[in-house]
Amino acid sequence: MRKYLVINGPNLNTLGQREPDVYGHESLADLEHQIENIAKQRGFGVTCCQSNHEGDIIDWIQKAKGVYTGIVINPGAFTHYSYAIRDAFASWEGPAVEVHISNVHKREAFRHQSVLAPVLNGQIVGLGFHGYILALDYLENLTNQSANY
Ligand code: DQA
Repeated sequence: MRKYLVINGPNLNTLGQREPDVYGHESLADLEHQIENIAKQRGFGVTCCQSNHEGDIIDWIQKAKGVYTGIVINPGAFTHYSYAIRDAFASWEGPAVEVHISNVHKREAFRHQSVLAPVLNGQIVGLGFHGYILALDYLENLTNQSANY
């Protein structure tokens, strides 16, 4: 069975309380339940994790080798400056997708750049929690795609 790792980075543990006009009213637990339900429906395995610490995220990416088929990550603010997380992805050999709940391109200029995106398969921004589901469906379908996006 294919198995995916969903990583949420710093401050995403406060979803629902944090800037609800930007991130909505649903919590991280709500998000993780939605992801787990989709995994059950679609018949794949999923592990959800969250940390406010860069080192934890790097450890999870390193340990994913041989265990997970793909990774979905919302790196939070690390997106914009963590070369350490980028390096961890550069040696991860599987597919990975970056997700942002908000449309970062409508926001402050510092959010427009991702230092991770160049070493990932792609990026989904501004579609709320649905972005995580789209990312998982993309990873599930990847092996059936003939084009190498
Ligand atoms: C975010 C966007 C980032 O710029 C921000 O630092 C976050 C959340 C998003 O999901 O929209 O923490 O990744």
